[in-house]
Amino acid sequence: KRPAGAPDKSLARKVTKVGIVGAGLMASQMALLFARRLEVPVVLTDIDQARVDKGVGYVHGEIDKLLGKKRVSPDKANRLKALVTGSLDKAAFADADFVIEAVFEDLGVKQKVFAEVEEHVSPEAVLATNTSSLSITEMASGLKHPERVVGFHFFNPVAIMPLLEIVRAGQTDDATLATAFAVGKQLKKSSVLVKDAPAFVVNRLLTRFMGEVVKSIDEGTPFEVADKATEPLGLPMSPLILLQLVGPAVALHVAETMHAAFPDRFGVSENMKAFVAAGKTAVYQWDSTGKQTVDPEVQALWS
Ligand code: 3HC
Repeated sequence: KRPAGAPDKSLARKVTKVGIVGAGLMASQMALLFARRLEVPVVLTDIDQARVDKGVGYVHGEIDKLLGKKRVSPDKANRLKALVTGSLDKAAFADADFVIEAVFEDLGVKQKVFAEVEEHVSPEAVLATNTSSLSITEMASGLKHPERVVGFHFFNPVAIMPLLEIVRAGQTDDATLATAFAVGKQLKKSSVLVKDAPAFVVNRLLTRFMGEVVKSIDEGTPFEVADKATEPLGLPMSPLILLQLVGPAVALHVAETMHAAFPDRFGVSENMKAFVAAGKTAVYQWDSTGKQTVDPEVQALWS
């Protein structure tokens, strides 16, 4: 059955090589997924060799884990490793027909990345973005071929979460959208078409929810109490553990985007800002027996 709003699949173009801009955790998880499901060459780029090596190293390590769990044969593991390579030079994207960016969440940075990629790929290559909340129409503006830009938003952990938000921007054409849906299907994701609105659908809901949890803590509710209070909702993970999975800096960025768009409905916690500025990535810490306590430095930020 064709997903709601998806164009005819006959318009989809074949993808024979994938480029990934950024080699951070989200980008590396994407590289593994593309290699595993599409079985085509996947090239990762980043701003320095150490990051590129770390990204490729992560993918190879995850392939070894799959081999250890007998999810892939030794032969397939070797083939997958050979498919994922890294380069500092975007010229390595030359024959790529699907390039996705997962770099720092800044509109100017992403516009610059797409303009650079456009110099190296064919006019028909799809340029996809994994942005969590930025306007894809603005991201595409200024490009020679804005009609090939599409949102392709994954969720953490990329290998596990089934949903994919596909975002049609102002200029996105049907062939680009059809290709995005075809790739989503090959990746075995459940794709939904969403509007190019701030934070699309999932993060809009999640940010409101997380914002209320943080507000409650700002007002004096202890961290563990706020977390425990969500248990009746039956979520797979408590909000403060989810915050750690997503990354507080990313969550703050989305909250700021939503606040700018809808100041009456979305706030930004000053304590959250201090938490991110302090470089903290988790509210809790765990001792060698697995006992969970609130990190005293984080507690102090809220006192
Ligand atoms: N990275 C990669 N794989 C992971 C992982 C991680 N961080 N955490 C768990 N997994 C894998 C495990 O290895 C296991 O794989 P296997 O079956 O091949 O062995 C599988 O997930 C299930 O793991 P577990 O049995 O240990 O754990 P759970 O059953 O508790 O599930 C979970 C873990 C899937 C992470 C679940 O807790 C969950 O669904 N949490 C909610 C996640 C969520 O809401 N994500 C969306 C965040 S919003 C976002 O990303 C958008 C962004 O723009 C901000």
